[in-house]
Amino acid sequence: MKIIETNNYQEMSEKAAHFLIKKVQDNPAIILGMATGGTPEGMYRLLIDDHKNNHTSYQGVTTFNLDEYIGLPKDDANSYYSYMWKTLFDHIDINDEHVHLPNGLATNIEEECKNYERLIKQYGGIDVQVLGIGENGHIGFNEPGTAFDSHTHVIELTDSTREANSRYFSNIYEVPKEAITMGIHTIMQAKEIVLLASGERKAEALNQLLHAEISEAFPASILQKHSNVTIIADRDALKHISHVTV
Ligand code: F6R
Repeated sequence: MKIIETNNYQEMSEKAAHFLIKKVQDNPAIILGMATGGTPEGMYRLLIDDHKNNHTSYQGVTTFNLDEYIGLPKDDANSYYSYMWKTLFDHIDINDEHVHLPNGLATNIEEECKNYERLIKQYGGIDVQVLGIGENGHIGFNEPGTAFDSHTHVIELTDSTREANSRYFSNIYEVPKEAITMGIHTIMQAKEIVLLASGERKAEALNQLLHAEISEAFPASILQKHSNVTIIADRDALKHISHVTV
């Protein structure tokens, strides 16, 4: 695993943006796996700046998001569909037919999960998957205890995840209890993974990601088995990690 340590959130965002821009420039038809949440927001802002100033094009790029809440309409301010359009897609030249998120309002959710998985395969799999990490070790919304062989599936969100995400809602009761998420197997099939983390509250999770025994109790520990992972994290998030290879 390659670890890139930065001084702070801004620098993490810059390194992550450079990383992705280079991938898109090297392969304009790249299939990207996207994450939501607070961590990648700075990176997305810089992708927009770069698109405006340097004209990096996303016309040939295809995206698959990791997850979506069940029960929120696409146009709900808190759906991940809204997040992605507001935070990135509305500001770059991506073709809306190339953008994919699970549909959290599908009438047949099981079928929706199977179709999402099938679609990723049809596109030949994800070239570069962006990940954040939950304090409890979740990747995507794969909460502790999720099977390592899981494909896109429905997950019941833990109280701690709902609590963490309640900052975007008026109160915790409005945070959906379930989501559709790519499975751990789906994520591990990505050819390359870049995981972003910032701040002290992620320090223990990064420590376990790197050093804990690989176990479904700590989903991110599976990344130890992936052959092409880059972690871009700031000093606070890496405070328990002594030997950082840059
Ligand atoms: C988001 C996702 C989650 C987040 C994680 C960290 O699509 O799948 O795994 O990456 O919850 O969230 P933040 O960045 O808000 O700390």
